[in-house]
Amino acid sequence: MLVAASLSLAAALLPATAQQAAEGVRPGNPRLADLMEAAQARHIKLWFAGITGNWKLAAYQTRQIKTRLQDAASLYQSLPVNDITTMAKPIDAMTAAIAAEDSKAFVKAYGELTTGCNSCHRELKLGFIELRTPEMNPFSDQVFGVRRK
Ligand code: HEC
Repeated sequence: MLVAASLSLAAALLPATAQQAAEGVRPGNPRLADLMEAAQARHIKLWFAGITGNWKLAAYQTRQIKTRLQDAASLYQSLPVNDITTMAKPIDAMTAAIAAEDSKAFVKAYGELTTGCNSCHRELKLGFIELRTPEMNPFSDQVFGVRRK
C-alpha cells in the first residue's frame, strides 16, 4: 500500500515545490527531486527488464519505484494525496503482469504507470517534466536479459 499522507488545506492550495521550499529538507533526508530521479532511473530499468523478459529484475525495479514514491509521500506531505494513491493501481497492475510473466500486460501497465507519473506532474504545474517509454538504455553496464547458463 502507498502511504496516505495527511494534508492540510493550506498545503493543498500551495504547489508542492513551494511547500517544500517552505519546509526545507531535514538533514539526512533525500530531496524530493532526487527521490524522483531515483524513480526515473528505475522507470527506465523496469522497461528494459520487462521487454527482455527478466521478470525477477522487473519485479525488483517495480519495488524500487514503489518505495521511492512511498518515501516521497511520507517525507513530503504537501504532495497531493490523490496523485499518490492513484499510483497504487498501475503499480498493482505492473506487479500482476510481472507475476504472470505477461509481456502484453507489462506494456499496458507500463503505459499506465507513466501516465500516473505525468498526471501528478501536470497537477502540480510541472507538466514540463514529462516521462515516456525510453527509446534506449543508458545503463549499458548492467545485464538486462536473462543470462543463459
Ligand atoms: C504525487 C506526485 C508525483 C508523482 C506520482 C510522481 N512525481 Fe515526479 N515529481 C513530483 C514533484 C513535486 C517533482 C518536483 C520535485 C522538486 O523539484 O522538488 C517531480 C519531479 C520529477 C522529476 C524531475 C527530476 C529531475 O532531476 O529531472 C522526474 C524525472 C520525475 N519526477 C520522475 C517521476 C517518475 C518516473 C514518476 C512515476 C514513477 C513520478 N515522477 C511520479 C511529483 C510526482
